[in-house]
Amino acid sequence: MTDVSLAGVSISYRGPDGSDYPAVRDVELHVPSGRFVSVVGPTGCGKSTLLNAVAGLLAPTAGEVRVDGAPLRGLNERAGYLFQNDGLLPWKTVLDNVALGLRLRGVPAAERNERAQAWLRRVGLAGFERSYPHQLSGGMRRRTSVAQTWIVDPDILLMDEPFGALDVQTRQIMENELLGLWTGSGKTVLFVTHDLDEAIALSDEVVLLSAGPASHVVGRYPIELPRPRDLLNIRTQPAFTETYARIWSDLREEVMTSYERANQPG
Ligand SMILES: Nc1ncnc2c1ncn2[C@@H]1O[C@H](COP(=O)(O)OP(=O)(O)OP(=O)(O)O)[C@@H](O)[C@H]1O
Ligand SMILES: [Mg+2]
Repeated sequence: MTDVSLAGVSISYRGPDGSDYPAVRDVELHVPSGRFVSVVGPTGCGKSTLLNAVAGLLAPTAGEVRVDGAPLRGLNERAGYLFQNDGLLPWKTVLDNVALGLRLRGVPAAERNERAQAWLRRVGLAGFERSYPHQLSGGMRRRTSVAQTWIVDPDILLMDEPFGALDVQTRQIMENELLGLWTGSGKTVLFVTHDLDEAIALSDEVVLLSAGPASHVVGRYPIELPRPRDLLNIRTQPAFTETYARIWSDLREEVMTSYERANQPG
């Protein structure tokens, strides 16, 4: 069981002209142990930036990431990270891609292949062990990424728009499967999506980031929908549509602000 928090996290990037760009400022975020928290916000507001900070790939300019209360230094060894862009290695087979994390941890070949095969069965990819990523559909590649992230059994899961590029049906099936994997696992999840629908359907809490620059948390919405949830039918339930309307009115404002800032002359 692992608790993650961001305390006053600010992150600036060096712009092309050498000036500092404050991507996020003073972000306060808490993901209690075993909970599923989603972050939504306009494009470019800093969602991936925050995940990178929790993964330990990026050190905050100010503030800190805490894991079970202890400040994170360097890589977050407790976290598995499903990147926004496919993290699969194109020159490795599906089996080798899935087994990669075990290999890095020194697990012997026979054992890691056996475990990778078991994960491929779990995500519906038995028979594709020897395929290469380019031979798979988008949905199959995402399944491979899910297996690749979960196989090392991380306490914390960081997922950045994992299903963003999929068609709606495949996406809902995969969301359902993700909830199936997560339920009872005790894993702490920080999930990023631009899709409010998805955020509500999956989460215990939705956190809204403001339009950038200097993006920060402007809303926290507990999601009271009972579990287990049937994601294929949840979106038509009144409790869902009410929650959606409430959060959307705030999100829409940030999206419009972001859009206006991006289209300012000069
Ligand atoms: N390595 C970098 N160097 C300079 N600026 C960066 C870098 N990475 C991100 N940024 C800037 O920081 C801001 C936040 O980027 P980030 O990728 O975190 O946004 P996001 O919310 O994940 O967007 P999206 O929804 O489009 O994925 C953007 O303005 C982006 O241009
Ligand atoms: Mg992003």
